[in-house]
Formats: sequence, structure tokens, C-alpha cells
Amino acid sequence: MQDQFGRRIEYLRISITDRCNFRCQYCMPLEGLPWLPKQDILRYEEITEVVRQLAPLGLRRLRITGGEPTIRPQLASLIRLLRQIPGIEDIALSTNGVRLPEMAHDLAEAGLDRVNISADSLRPERVAAIARRDLSFDLVRAARAAEDAGIAPIKVNVVVMRGINDDEVADFAALTRVHPWHVRFIELMPVGELRDLTWEHVVPSEEVLQRVRSLGALEPDQGPVRGNGPAVYYRLPGAVGTVGVITPMTHTYCERCNRVRLTADGRLRTCLFGDHEVLLRDALRRGEPLAPLFTKALAEKPKEHHLLQMRIGGLRALSEVGG
Ligand code: 5AD
Ligand code: SF4
Repeated sequence: MQDQFGRRIEYLRISITDRCNFRCQYCMPLEGLPWLPKQDILRYEEITEVVRQLAPLGLRRLRITGGEPTIRPQLASLIRLLRQIPGIEDIALSTNGVRLPEMAHDLAEAGLDRVNISADSLRPERVAAIARRDLSFDLVRAARAAEDAGIAPIKVNVVVMRGINDDEVADFAALTRVHPWHVRFIELMPVGELRDLTWEHVVPSEEVLQRVRSLGALEPDQGPVRGNGPAVYYRLPGAVGTVGVITPMTHTYCERCNRVRLTADGRLRTCLFGDHEVLLRDALRRGEPLAPLFTKALAEKPKEHHLLQMRIGGLRALSEVGG
């Protein structure tokens, strides 16, 4: 399964809802978005059918995203369905972690392999200010719950924003001295309908790494062995976890892009940015084979996006496309 530029596509990110229990400043307007009508959202059986048809073409790894995937009922039952599909080697979840303490055990039992937890602050009042909802999220509690359930590796995603949470970079990095977690600092992408965040809030990852070095010298590290993505990893002296950076604002990864995305309403998007998409839902509901549509989508997958050349506005909120 290769696209027209010879990139092998074996990783599908599946958005199962466009809704969220948070309203992160960089992701979703406070008043929410025009939510998808329920009848347009793929049922779990329909998502499973998409994956069942793509697996023979070379699909190997899945990530469930949102919005916030844990707010859709019966998430464990979807994981159980996906787990049974031959060829699927790895199932991961991206979550804000709020519901992990109560759900981690069931998700692990259903067959979830790995989890990414988004966490932008370690201070309760700041978490609430950034997410604009106070749901008592506590990263250490959420990650421990996943760990206790046997989910590994555990990655933590921190979106760094100047003047908002950049003073906590060293605190986040210090977690890797005592926890075997992979803490990844993401450059803010000031895209979508953001009103409060601008290019001035972007902290280049070089600067982030400089702050981490206040704790000790950084050695390059391979990070979690089965990573799918573009993070570059380092390790602090004697640390059990690693520190990573993801640099969408200062680098592009397009030439090694290995992924496509399925939106909650059944569109296959071949690039996070740009509007290349193929509607699978109607064909799926008519019982038609999806392979030809998939081939068409891959043939149209763009060579690269132009995020670095863009300015604010015009782009969809990332919550709509699953990050
Ligand atoms: N800039 C950077 N990262 C973002 N995410 C969501 N929106 C943005 C943005 N505008 C991150 C979330 C999550 C991942 C899926 O994408 O924090 O970790
Ligand atoms: Fe929700 Fe994640 Fe968007 Fe925050 S970043 S509003 S947790 S989908």
C-alpha cells in the first residue's frame, strides 16, 4: 500500500467523535463547534468494516482519536472489534486522560496496546484555565492508571505555549527521571478558529530543549520502540523515561508521512492540512467495496502541506480531524 510518492501507508488514525469534554484554547472554541449529526457518524461496526477492508491492503497500526474518544460510549467494545481483525498489530489511543482512571482497566482488557495522554500543565488551576473546563485532570494519576492496567508505552503530549505553560517544561521533563514515560513537547500550531493564540505563542523546540538541559545533558535516544511518528527523542542522565520534541512549526515530515485519517463521519483524509478527502461512508453503507476508493485517495495524497507558509485562519480546528 504505497502512495504516488512511494510512501508506505500502514497507519490509520480513526476519529470516533468530534466532541470533547475539554475546550483547549489551541483546539476548540469555547462555545463548541457545529457538531456532526448523529446519523453521519460511523457506528463501531462500520469503523470495523473499514479497517477489515483496509487490513489486507497493508494497514497495520491504528490510533483512536477524537475530539475526545473516551466520551463516546462503549469505547472498549470498539477496541475489542478492532483487535479481532487479522493483520492489525497495534492499537493506540489519544486521549486527554480525564476518564482514564475509571476506564484504563477495561480498555487494556479489550486489547488496547498504547496510550498518548495530552497534558499541558501539572498545576490543577492551570489545567482548568487552558482546557477551559475543570474536570480535576491529574496527569500523574491518569498515566499511573494506564500503567497499572498494563498499557505501555505511555506517551505524554505537551503543547508548549509561550507565557502560558512554557515555565513548566523542566517540571514535565523531570517526570521522566522517575517514570518510564515518553514526554513529548509539541510546537503549538496556531491554526483553526483560534482567537487567543497567535504565532507569538509558538515556542520553537530548540528553545524547549534548552530548558530541558537545565536538568542535565541530553543524550539522543530511540524513544518508544514502536513509535509511529515524527518525534525525536532524548534522555536525561539516569532517567527511566525519555523526552521528545514534535516540531510541526519548524520542520515538515511530509516526506516520511506514513498515515491517513478517517473522520468520525467516514471521510478518508490523506493529509492533516489541506482538504484532500474521499467519502467512504456512502459506499460503505451501500455495501460496496472500499479498496478502489482507498486507492484513489492514496493516488491523490498530497506530496506535502504548507503549514509553515500559512497564517492563522482558514484551516479547520484540529479536533475535527483528530490531531
Ligand atoms: N497545536 C499543537 N498541538 C495540537 N493538538 C491539538 N491541537 C493542537 C494545536 N493547535 C494536539 C493535542 C494532542 C494531539 C492529538 O494534538 O494536544 O496531544
Ligand atoms: Fe479536546 Fe484534545 Fe481538543 Fe483539548 S486538544 S479540546 S482535549 S480534542
